[in-house]
This record gives sequence, structure tokens and C-alpha cells, in this order.
Amino acid sequence: MNEPHLPLEAHPLAQSMRAARVPPFHAMAMSRLASDREAAGQKVYHLQVGQPSTPAPAAAIQAGVETMTREPLGYTNAPGLLSLRRRIVQHYHEWYGVAVPLDRVMIVAGASAGFSLAFLACFDPGQRVGVLEPGYPCYRNTLLALGVEPVPIPVGPQTRWAPTTELLDAAGHLDGLIVASPSNPTGTVLKAETLSDLTTYCADRCIQLIADEIYHGITFDEPAPTMLAVNEHAVVINSFSKYFSMTGWRLGWVVAPDPLVDAFERLQQNFYICAPHISQVVGLAAFDAQAELDGHVQHYRSNRALLLGGLAASGITNVAEADGAFYIYGNVSHLADDSMVLCRRWLDELGVVCTPGLDFDTARGHEWVRFSYAGSAGDITAACAQIGLWAP
Ligand SMILES: Cc1ncc(COP(=O)(O)O)c(C=O)c1O
Repeated sequence: MNEPHLPLEAHPLAQSMRAARVPPFHAMAMSRLASDREAAGQKVYHLQVGQPSTPAPAAAIQAGVETMTREPLGYTNAPGLLSLRRRIVQHYHEWYGVAVPLDRVMIVAGASAGFSLAFLACFDPGQRVGVLEPGYPCYRNTLLALGVEPVPIPVGPQTRWAPTTELLDAAGHLDGLIVASPSNPTGTVLKAETLSDLTTYCADRCIQLIADEIYHGITFDEPAPTMLAVNEHAVVINSFSKYFSMTGWRLGWVVAPDPLVDAFERLQQNFYICAPHISQVVGLAAFDAQAELDGHVQHYRSNRALLLGGLAASGITNVAEADGAFYIYGNVSHLADDSMVLCRRWLDELGVVCTPGLDFDTARGHEWVRFSYAGSAGDITAACAQIGLWAP
């Protein structure tokens, strides 16, 4: 008979204190409700998607298929395939005119893996790391899981959603700061001067800067400048999930500052071993498919115009400047006190699914909703028409 080693009541079934501190990602909960509605045969208009609806570039998939039939595809080295790391160095040269030393480039299993490695490499439990609000929730939630204290830095239209030295001063002592450009949910791009100002501010105070550049390549006016052009001490994280249209392949990269390269490699060896080998092969080939990928950006550009027009016609005019990414962050305080309730009602009553601002901003998010234009033009047109007719 198989006796358990411990009496049942002694099994440690309770979650850890750290796990208990991690809040849900509400966007995923809204998507789940939308799927339930679709499964019940009801129509859903998707304005919540945070990913391209397109596959990886055709030539990149072809390269993957050929490699898969030829090679065993075991682990790669922890930093990743040399060919891909070299291609990323070339990418910085071609896109930004910036020379990045090969040793500093490490391939990771998506930006998300890059965050856990970066936060572990840079911060100890109890340290204080500034996160912009509104901002991508997983920075805050991953820091919490690691026992690091996220310090909210409220940004808004007054500063074009960018952090200023005054806002940083008001946050008190910081050990780290995370910025994203273009940002999720606002889509705003940090200008080159802002990146320089942040670099100086952080260097003067020994604050470790981390820049999330995952939406680079999806901009509609000026290209987004990279933090690497002005700062060799920042950790820069990027991914194949957005511009490269490879969300499910779980592939990204980190450019680590020289003194942290060894820490990143040791952490990667132990946490992930390496990023998925096949994804690295496909990612390498994706760099040669920029015409196809730029076509997706044109699709986002026309969807953006459609959504901005549709929201304006529905009375949602207080929106963040959507310089890039594929989101519009709109103020809905004239429609409801709580955007979570509003999103639930729009889903139930209109079949329109959006993301409540609470995910991105714990203090003011109840007044805002994130509308995504990564999906189809048809969904955007129909959803805006529904919202325009809706009465609170
Ligand atoms: C700002 C930002 N960073 C990172 C991620 C996650 O990226 P990845 O798919 O590369 O893990 C997302 C996903 O939506 C995001 O919006």
C-alpha cells in the first residue's frame, strides 16, 4: 500500500506568501469571459487582444520546418545561437546606428523571461523599483513575486505619459526603474531627450534602469529611439512577440550591461537552460522578412485611424497619444465610475471586449480602458458602432 510520507494534514498545500501577493492579470480574465461567450455561440468583437493576429513570417516558418527535419534541436548554449546573437548586433547597427557588443546579447524565452532574469540579476528582496502607472502590470506583479517592492510613479497627459525628474523625486529612494517605449497601454514613445535625462538621473543615484523595447518597429511617426544609444548601463529587453509576429514562439532578447552579463548567464542556465531552439532558428530568419512585417505595421496604422475615429464618434476623445504599439488608452469616466464594471457590461450587453485600466494603473485605472487595434478592422468598426449606441 502506498502510504504518503507525511500525514495528510502536514502536507504544505498552502501557497507561499509571495504567490499570495501576486494579483491576477485582468486582461486574461476578460479574454476568458469572451471565450466563454463565443463558446456559447454569441458574437464577440475583440478590442482586448495584446498580440498580432498574423503568424510568423512565411520564410521564417519555412526555415524552421527545414531545420526541424534536419537537426535534433537540442539545447543551445545558455546565451543562445551565435548566429541569432550576431544578427541582433547587426539589427542594432541597421535600425539605430548603435554598436552593441556581442557578449552583451542573450536570447531569452520572451521578454517575460527577460524580466524575471533581469529582476533577479539586478535587485534583492526589499529593494524599491519604480514602475510607471499606467504601465504593463507584469513588471509590478513579477517584482512582487520576487519580494522586490514596486513603487508606482503616476504619469499622465501633463508629461505626455513620460516620467520626469520631479515625478521620480516624489517617489523617494529607488534602486531601480522600469520604463517601456512605446508603452503598453498608452502607446506613447519616450523621446531621445527623455532617455538621456533618465540616464543621467539614474546614473547620479545608482538606480538600475531597465528599458522594455518590445513594441519597437510598431510606430507611426518617428521610430522609437533605443535606450542603448545613450546608456550602456541599462538592461534593454526586446522580443519577437510584437513586430516580428511570433508571440507563441516565446522568444526575446536581453542586452545586459557588461558587469551583469555573467549573472544573466548563470541565472539563465539554472532557470531556463536556454530559449526554445526552434524559435531561435525561426527568429533568425524573421530578420530577413521585414517587408512582410512592415506590411503588418501598415495594417495597424489603418486600424489605429479607424479606432481613433470610431472612439471619437462615440464620445471617447480623451485618449493618450498612440505613437506606437497597437493600443489606445481612453478615458471613460463620463460613462462609468469603474471601468471594470463598464468592461463587463460592454461584454454582456454589446459583445465588445476591452481591457479595464485597473490592470495598468491601480490608482486611476478605474477611469480608463485599453482598446486594442491589433485585431480586425471589421471588429473595430462594429465595436465602435455598438459603443456609440450604448447608454450607461
Ligand atoms: C510591454 C510588454 N512587455 C512584455 C510583454 C510580454 O512579452 P513576451 O511575449 O515577449 O513575453 C508584453 C505583452 O503584451 C508587453 O505588452
